[in-house]
Amino acid sequence: MTLRIIAGGANPALALKVADALGTGLVGAGIVRFPDGEIHVELAESVRGGDVYLLQPTTPPIAEHLHELLFLADAARRAGARRVTAVVPYFAYARQDRRATGREAVGGRVVADLLAAAHVDRVVAVDLHETALEGFFPCPLEHLTSVPALADTLGVLAPDGEVVVAPDAGATKLAERYGRCLKLPVAFVHKRRVSGESVTTHGIAGDVRGRRALIVDDMISTAGTVAGAVGVLLEAGAAPDIVVAATHGLFVGPAVERLAPLPIARLVVTDTVGRELPSPLPGHVVSVAPLLATAIGCLHEERSLDRLILHA
Ligand code: R5P
Repeated sequence: MTLRIIAGGANPALALKVADALGTGLVGAGIVRFPDGEIHVELAESVRGGDVYLLQPTTPPIAEHLHELLFLADAARRAGARRVTAVVPYFAYARQDRRATGREAVGGRVVADLLAAAHVDRVVAVDLHETALEGFFPCPLEHLTSVPALADTLGVLAPDGEVVVAPDAGATKLAERYGRCLKLPVAFVHKRRVSGESVTTHGIAGDVRGRRALIVDDMISTAGTVAGAVGVLLEAGAAPDIVVAATHGLFVGPAVERLAPLPIARLVVTDTVGRELPSPLPGHVVSVAPLLATAIGCLHEERSLDRLILHA
């Protein structure tokens, strides 16, 4: 089977880096919008018999990018691809993994079902909001982690970090992983989400007084979580040059205005989303291209991914 990589429209720069790292080109794909808003997808060359990897994070506009991914999968399958893998570095709807109240949709499950309906054989994702999401997929899910790469970068950019901070209960395991990589203690912020855009914080567990804090999370969306954690840290007497690291930098809605006035010495994210970092914050982007390229190489050659995978 020939290795074929196809980029959706969400993050072509990342797809190109991955293809370069693997020493292969991208299969051309025409993705156009019809006047009524329909998406039309057509592959520019044959993928018959190929081992096809569709690289498409489902970043905003989420519905558009998700549709592109589904249609690319269908196009590849109908064009005779032998195996189709959806590489979704940022997987939207991962936060909708259960019903918190009685009448909500479980969006993560719906998206997993849609990918299965498009006959995707395998999904590759990076630092999902919740590892249990794997159970939603009827096909194998390879859950990669960028934590070692981000932790290495933090070790260089903030070697004087003294405590890793989980900004909410959901980030506890993630913070412990960073803590193990950086050999630092971990503190936990008590956060409650009020709406998609606002959160409240209720104190912190762990010793942060006088210490330089490294806040870690899976994603920064509206930055309400980070802003809340910074506020709690300052109240608790942490050193006022905080470092923030997150895998997925979405920076939507009021994120930029929320982050700008905070005493953040460094903001570190990966390029899963591919958005510009909100200036004027001092930022740093760690590419997940090497991680994805290694994973795709292993899958293509049917070698173990053990070193790259997030173990619960
Ligand atoms: C929530 O549990 C996630 O791990 C993130 O903390 C959250 O989604 C970030 O969203 P925002 O930046 O809008 O607070």
